[in-house]
Amino acid sequence: KEGAVEFFIPELPDLISKDMEVFYNPFMAINRDFTVLILKAYSKLKAKKLFVADPMSASGVRVLRLLKETNAVEKAFLNDIKKEAIELAQKNLEGHQNVEYFNKDANVFLLENKGFDYIDIDPYGSPVPFLESAIKSLKTGGLIGITATDTASLSGSYPFKAFRRYGSKPLDSEFYHESALRILIKSVIEASFRLDSVLKPVFGFSYRHFLRAFFVKLKGVSKAVDISTKIGYIGYCHSCKFRESYTCILDLPKFCPLCGDFFDYGGPLYIGSIYDNELLNIMKDEDFAHFHKDTVKVFTNILKESSIKSPWFYKANIFGKGIMPKLKQILKDLNAKPTHFSPEGFKTDLDFKYVKEYFEKWA
Ligand SMILES: C[S@@+](CC[C@H](N)C(=O)[O-])C[C@H]1O[C@@H](n2cnc3c(N)ncnc32)[C@H](O)[C@@H]1O
Repeated sequence: KEGAVEFFIPELPDLISKDMEVFYNPFMAINRDFTVLILKAYSKLKAKKLFVADPMSASGVRVLRLLKETNAVEKAFLNDIKKEAIELAQKNLEGHQNVEYFNKDANVFLLENKGFDYIDIDPYGSPVPFLESAIKSLKTGGLIGITATDTASLSGSYPFKAFRRYGSKPLDSEFYHESALRILIKSVIEASFRLDSVLKPVFGFSYRHFLRAFFVKLKGVSKAVDISTKIGYIGYCHSCKFRESYTCILDLPKFCPLCGDFFDYGGPLYIGSIYDNELLNIMKDEDFAHFHKDTVKVFTNILKESSIKSPWFYKANIFGKGIMPKLKQILKDLNAKPTHFSPEGFKTDLDFKYVKEYFEKWA
């Protein structure tokens, strides 16, 4: 059972892995909750039902949930390279008429069946091999949800792997979850630019071992200039923790402007706003009854942090080992908001120097 549905899956092994006959990961219920939530909202925003593609559908649970928990689907198209997966999806979706099944490579499926209003890319590891066909297959004005589970490389544990896949240098810092998500977002935008289209981020989060970002395909390419000014770099000092976003790599100082130590960097990555307020406003009024408690927690924090313009969240413990104030106190004193990226994290638009001085009084 997951959300409001019951369905068949193979017996779960102790270790969830690609080797399962048909893949199902119960921890990804949160990932699917957000698909349900955003599709309900997006369908309302567009005032229409959607043609939905699930090119890596596995058991079909995502589409089953969309059909049972939303009124958003006109027709769903499920595909998986594994025959056993599609057979199980057919069993799980028995009785639903507005569904078609395919057993192809996802790229072939996407290029042969264009014009979707929603595409869900949920591969093992990196979504990069599927970006171009998904962008081509998405209708103008359509929504795309992209999952990445290769978070270790995006977060800085395997920098060369990240560079090879995403064309960016990851940054090892206390806010690595956020820089990882922003590298993923950058690479999706970049892929859209290469195809003469523009994908604009509208929602995103990091949870446990995965990252998830949603984008809308804009009409025309005139917005490309605006979005390209939001692609830049994060400069970071490992000594004093000073951080600053830069739009041009030539502006990155070699030494920390605050303490003079070596100044590290990450990027290119997306430095603009991740959230679309119109969509957030509709999402917040949806029914959360069937969602996992962590989905509610993540969304509640996203609602709060979306009011802060500055990226790069803080953690109090980076500024010293003393007894630090409780998060509630910090939020009040620094005009800050909690962040879904970390239970101890917070975001503020206040100047870095002010934040640092505040904590130095406690350290
Ligand atoms: C992470 S699972 C997807 C889980 C599913 N979306 C869900 O929510 O339960 C990845 C799926 O992609 C399928 N797959 C892997 N490579 C593929 C490819 N090149 N084309 C189509 N399907 C592929 C696998 O068989 C597997 O079922």
